[in-house]
Amino acid sequence: MQQTNSIGLFDSGVGGTSIWKEINALLPFENTLYLADSLNAPYGNKTRDEIIHLSIKNTEFLLNKNCKMIVVACNTATTNAINILREKYDIPIIGIEPAMKPAALQTKTKSIGILATKGTLSSNLFHKTAAKFTKDISVIEIIGEGLVPLIEQGKIHTPELTELLFKYTEPMVAASIDHLVLGCSHYPYLIPKLLTILPDNITIIDSGAAVARQTRSVLENNGILNTLEEKPTLQFLTNSDSATLKMLLIDYIQDINISQENF
Ligand code: DGL
Repeated sequence: MQQTNSIGLFDSGVGGTSIWKEINALLPFENTLYLADSLNAPYGNKTRDEIIHLSIKNTEFLLNKNCKMIVVACNTATTNAINILREKYDIPIIGIEPAMKPAALQTKTKSIGILATKGTLSSNLFHKTAAKFTKDISVIEIIGEGLVPLIEQGKIHTPELTELLFKYTEPMVAASIDHLVLGCSHYPYLIPKLLTILPDNITIIDSGAAVARQTRSVLENNGILNTLEEKPTLQFLTNSDSATLKMLLIDYIQDINISQENF
């Protein structure tokens, strides 16, 4: 595999761009191809079989584009499908899981909250990780029903979304959490609003930076880190309307390259 081949990322939609930004910030010379499967969003309410089927479809699309590594920039797809993808494909595959470990290690109130999709919270992988790190800790699990569709529509700064955030965080605040784990790659876009809603003593944790560090070390260990310090090709593909993708990336990339394709 060539060092200059792209890192392929996929998500159920626009949310994985929060992971893409962390990866691009840490590895600014890597070529990347980001796949937003917005036509099929949200994944969070789908069955495990459906999530596996969509994850295979996206992975094969990226492999056909000669990607050197896959980043599953979606907690729902990771927690339901990553083991199957790793068995099936002989290429490094990195996933994103809710950061339960740092929250559990840092909590003083012994109470933490996790906001994620139904698909993530009902997965075996999530339960295994949560059980491992949160033995003496109370974990308030809340499904962020309706958040992903609003973010997909670009309705991030709307009263409708704010109302949902109040509703979902209220039981967590009542349970004295001091850490809120964002277990969905769409949710980092809600951090500015969450900071205005949550009491100051609650720390918000997401997994983006950890995934970027993991990406770098896997590239290094496989000898496929791009060592050419040239301007990279950054491609974004969506199978739906590109407006929200553009909105989330416009401040970050000047000559943005988004195409619409059926996949
Ligand atoms: N970004 C996906 C995740 O991290 C959203 C899932 C969905 O589409 O419901 O879980």
